[in-house]
Amino acid sequence: MSVTDKRAPGVRINDLSVVYRTGAGELPAVRGVDLELVPGTITGVVGESGSGKSTLALSLLNAVQPPGRIRSGSVDIDGLGDVVILGGDDLRKTRGRHVGYVFQAAQNSLNPLKTIGKQLLDLGRSHDVDDLPGLVKEARSLLDRMGLDGARVLDSYQHELSGGMRQRVGIMLALVLNAHVVVLDEPTTALDMITQATILRIIREVHEERGLTTLVITHDLGVVAEIADRLAVMYGGRLVEQGPTREVLGEPKHPYTRGLLQAIPRLVGDIDEARALPGRPPTLSTIPPDGCVFRERCAVRMDVCETGEPPVLTIGPRVVACHTAAGEGEQKETVTTGPTRGEEQA
Ligand SMILES: Nc1ncnc2c1ncn2[C@@H]1O[C@H](COP(=O)(O)OP(=O)(O)O)[C@@H](O)[C@H]1O
Ligand code: SF4
Ligand SMILES: [Mg+2]
Repeated sequence: MSVTDKRAPGVRINDLSVVYRTGAGELPAVRGVDLELVPGTITGVVGESGSGKSTLALSLLNAVQPPGRIRSGSVDIDGLGDVVILGGDDLRKTRGRHVGYVFQAAQNSLNPLKTIGKQLLDLGRSHDVDDLPGLVKEARSLLDRMGLDGARVLDSYQHELSGGMRQRVGIMLALVLNAHVVVLDEPTTALDMITQATILRIIREVHEERGLTTLVITHDLGVVAEIADRLAVMYGGRLVEQGPTREVLGEPKHPYTRGLLQAIPRLVGDIDEARALPGRPPTLSTIPPDGCVFRERCAVRMDVCETGEPPVLTIGPRVVACHTAAGEGEQKETVTTGPTRGEEQA
């Protein structure tokens, strides 16, 4: 395992749609998502609860579980190919070794009957790591960096650790196999502000030291503002805006991104200026099947927003899906929804 090994792979998510089977049939939680993770960068995905972020994260490892399934699209990772069509042993090896991940609620997924150290060794063995003492040393050092007593944590059982400690154990497990693509789903939600800042700094440091390609998923715009080079904003299963973080936050083009930003109380300035977005995000059964997914809550909606999808416009390094941006950029050619998998529609 070489820590100096710099081979940041690129990841291209293409026209990805993921559905869950419900009483009302299969409904999409992720719809027609195109997203590129540029090698060596941190991409942040932000959106309210239920917007499809965790489903997108699971798709990167082809780990969507029934009643969900990837309906169409591809996730192409350099050196691995399309993970959507990987299966069996290839897929198992990918998880952890090539794509390190902390899933949301990872802190509850530890085995209560084994110490963290024992679980670490299991992980190493299942990925054919030869140098197990080296793996333990690396784990200890990562935990120490995150402000924990690494040796003690490795000797502990899950119930002996606080939620915040378990979260850091999850991050350690995502990084310890030295994967070059790392997916962190809500990595700092159980942490207080100070610990959160420390953890974000360490994620950034490790990302740079190792030359990783990293995806950070969060409902907290503050987290992505802190850490992400590029930002993708998700709403009702759609990516509505993406681009360099500074540009997206500095000059948001989509009404939803503007709404998210306006809802953050500023430290300086008038706290009354923070305005929560009216209404609630849609659930699977209330996502409108036609028209702009955000229109129910959009202050500037027009007649044209009621039907058809808003155009997906490329404006320099940015992509915006909204009629208000029409004329500003070039419209992406409409892609037909790619090959459909397991066509047993409910
Ligand atoms: N196992 C499941 N069965 C049915 N619906 C699900 C399941 N998991 C997630 N969903 C639904 O899919 C949508 C997206 O969920 P999720 O990806 O967890 O969003 P986020 O991570 O942004 O909160 C939500 O409406 C959620 O209720
Ligand atoms: S497409 Fe229409 S409804 Fe949707 S965000 Fe833009 S203006 Fe609002
Ligand atoms: Mg989630």
